[in-house]
Amino acid sequence: MRKPVRKAIFPVAGLGTRFLPATKAMPKEMLTVVDKPLIQYAVEEAVAAGIEELIFVTGRGKGALEDHFDHSFELEATLKARGKTAELKIVESLIPTAGNLVYTRQQEPRGLGHAVWCARHITGDEPFAVLLADDLVHAGTACLKQMVDVYNKVGGSIVAVMDVPREHTNRYGILKTGAEKDGCVEALGLVEKPKPEVAPSTLSIIGRYILQPEVMQHLDKQEPGAGGEIQLTDAMAKMCGNGQFHGYRFQGRRFDCGDKAGFIEANIALALEHPQIGGAVKESVKEFAAKLK
Ligand code: G1P
Repeated sequence: MRKPVRKAIFPVAGLGTRFLPATKAMPKEMLTVVDKPLIQYAVEEAVAAGIEELIFVTGRGKGALEDHFDHSFELEATLKARGKTAELKIVESLIPTAGNLVYTRQQEPRGLGHAVWCARHITGDEPFAVLLADDLVHAGTACLKQMVDVYNKVGGSIVAVMDVPREHTNRYGILKTGAEKDGCVEALGLVEKPKPEVAPSTLSIIGRYILQPEVMQHLDKQEPGAGGEIQLTDAMAKMCGNGQFHGYRFQGRRFDCGDKAGFIEANIALALEHPQIGGAVKESVKEFAAKLK
């Protein structure tokens, strides 16, 4: 019988150098899109997909992430005393059930594959999801939920994919594509960050994965790949070509919040939809747009 996807890994050890000085003393995953940190969007997406165990692979200086998902008794007591029930609900509702959050550390920055491998004893022999908080996916049905639904039909391993301009293939893991059915594309192979002229397609992995536990055995070998790092894409590539690895064209819009422009775009898009500030932001955006040449 197909094992359900109950666990998710959040690799959150990265230094966030692209956002300095903002990320000097603060984890990049705590950068906010409107009023929520990036990591909370990813955690909420996982929970919406039925994930029960949230595994954070952290590093030094990431304490704010742990505090964010814990009680703040002083804050809660103050909100209660002042009758701020809506705010109290906001801070209380984001705290996962005790025991459902697990932290481990990636002690050295050796790449995404290495970060995922650091969680191998926690995922054990179960399939698991990986969510990169830098990739914010704004969708009607949570992106990971869409993927879990596909997984429940086709099994194996599934990565979220989208087409990118050919000149951007060197920023992504790229699929060598096989047959496609209902948005599900068989991956015959995967290459990490190929140059545009050698990329096997323009179908790119974005930061959502459902993986079978055998990926950990490939990561065990600790073979460095692109950029000298241990790449998740290289380990996944070894599982392609037998009908058990698919790319899924998710519904929704992905914002690359690891990049300043993408991060600002996400803020504008979500602010425009925000029930309290949407109207005011729309007026400002219109005003700015009118001045553009
Ligand atoms: C990572 C992965 C890459 C994937 C990308 C999605 O790259 O290595 O395969 O396409 O995330 O955002 P990074 O952005 O960490 O360089």
